[in-house]
Amino acid sequence: MERFVIPHEHEITKEDRRSLNKHGSLILWFTGLPSSGKSTIANELEKKLITLGTRTYILDGDNVRMGLCKDLGFSEEDRGENIRRIGEVSKLFVDSGCIVLSAFVSPYIVDRDAVRGLVEEGEFVEVFVDAPLAVCEERDVKGLYKKAREGIIKGFTGIDDPYEAPLSPEITIDTSKLSLEEGVDVLLAYLEKRGALPSN
Ligand code: ADX
Repeated sequence: MERFVIPHEHEITKEDRRSLNKHGSLILWFTGLPSSGKSTIANELEKKLITLGTRTYILDGDNVRMGLCKDLGFSEEDRGENIRRIGEVSKLFVDSGCIVLSAFVSPYIVDRDAVRGLVEEGEFVEVFVDAPLAVCEERDVKGLYKKAREGIIKGFTGIDDPYEAPLSPEITIDTSKLSLEEGVDVLLAYLEKRGALPSN
């Protein structure tokens, strides 16, 4: 299909929005097995960031798989499309001047690397929320590991579908070893070091 899409050059830039906000904008991309603690950490961190005066937004299964990606399942192809769309939305949030917290299993390295490639150097921060499968299965927050073991759910990540751990994530948080507060502190220290926190 021949397409004539000519982007409009908007005058207000990402840098303008960052200066207005007095903080940086980037993607914290939380990846890990189901029940590893991705959404829990993202939620807790967001509360801290808001009290510090940071503009944030969380993207996770609840607001994405029920709307934007409700036509997608869990095949390798659908997961790829899920992550592609979320990556594009995350990029828009970075452009809007937000710190966006994207919490998805995102089991394939190639899909996560594609999101990294969408944004500028340093704007994609891979956070590996690492906990042994046995710990995640024990937590079984939504009761889905049990259903997967019973064969009711097929192709469940960690049971009968792969999870490719990041090879060189910017941050690793082992939620079986660190408390929630300690995990959040690791992230805050990283953002501080990057100069991404509010400057006033
Ligand atoms: S991803 O693989 O495409 O990144 P996503 O993070 O959006 O997955 O959704 C994962 C959530 O969907 C899990 O936390 C779990 O609650 C639910 N889910 C349902 N079926 C599956 C499945 N087959 N594999 C993994 N998670 C599943």
